[in-house]
Amino acid sequence: MADRRKLAAGNWKMNGTAAALSEVSALAGLRRGTTCEILLCPPTTLIERMARATEGTNIAVGGQDCHWAENGAHTGDVSAEMLKDAGATYVITGHSERRADHGESDEMVRRKTEAAWAAGLAVILCVGETLSEREASNTIDIIKGQLAGSVPDQATGHNLVVAYEPVWAIGTGKVPSTDQIGEVHDVIRVQLEKRFGPGVGRSVRLLYGGSVKPANAAEIFAVENVDGALVGGASLKAPDFDGIIKALDA
Ligand code: 13P
Repeated sequence: MADRRKLAAGNWKMNGTAAALSEVSALAGLRRGTTCEILLCPPTTLIERMARATEGTNIAVGGQDCHWAENGAHTGDVSAEMLKDAGATYVITGHSERRADHGESDEMVRRKTEAAWAAGLAVILCVGETLSEREASNTIDIIKGQLAGSVPDQATGHNLVVAYEPVWAIGTGKVPSTDQIGEVHDVIRVQLEKRFGPGVGRSVRLLYGGSVKPANAAEIFAVENVDGALVGGASLKAPDFDGIIKALDA
């Protein structure tokens, strides 16, 4: 198996003002000896302050979205270069909340991912089916289609992480069975190997996301091809995120 460093990524979504930075210093203190890579993706307004607060720690900082253009007349948007300038090293693209709230298509996600790479950011690209798609037994086709349409040709194990986030598991407390997670992660791995060759295909890290908590993390991390987690709610509090990282370290 390729040597893939475990990754614990927290997506704070639209949560957090300056006061929340105390969670970051608490987390840095708790997880000093970890061998995992730790990433926090706060709202854009906190990126620069979080980057400063994590200097000298093992916590990296990322954005939650970027525009596909380098710059220009896009009111309210942020470019990949701006995220990088603020101290980010990663950005999330294609999160289902952006696909749903902002009508982001696979094509848009692909262009955003290319823009992030051009700016020197690594990308966590999200895919996942809705409940109705799963109930109609379309999960595998949906995942294959999202991968084909949104992962650009220049993917490597350094610039790309893929997160499988079933939409129905996000923020709901519902988690797929380990068999269901394993099946999708296996499909993602095979698709990446087919398209990019075994070297690159095996080196891209695959995260599971959707209601990951300290209590269920160990079971999820034992699944083949799960190289870490993309965590929403449980990444907001240092002790909860710490419990998840501890399970990943084990
Ligand atoms: P929850 O962990 O809150 O379910 O969110 C998952 C997620 O969407 C992370 O990007």
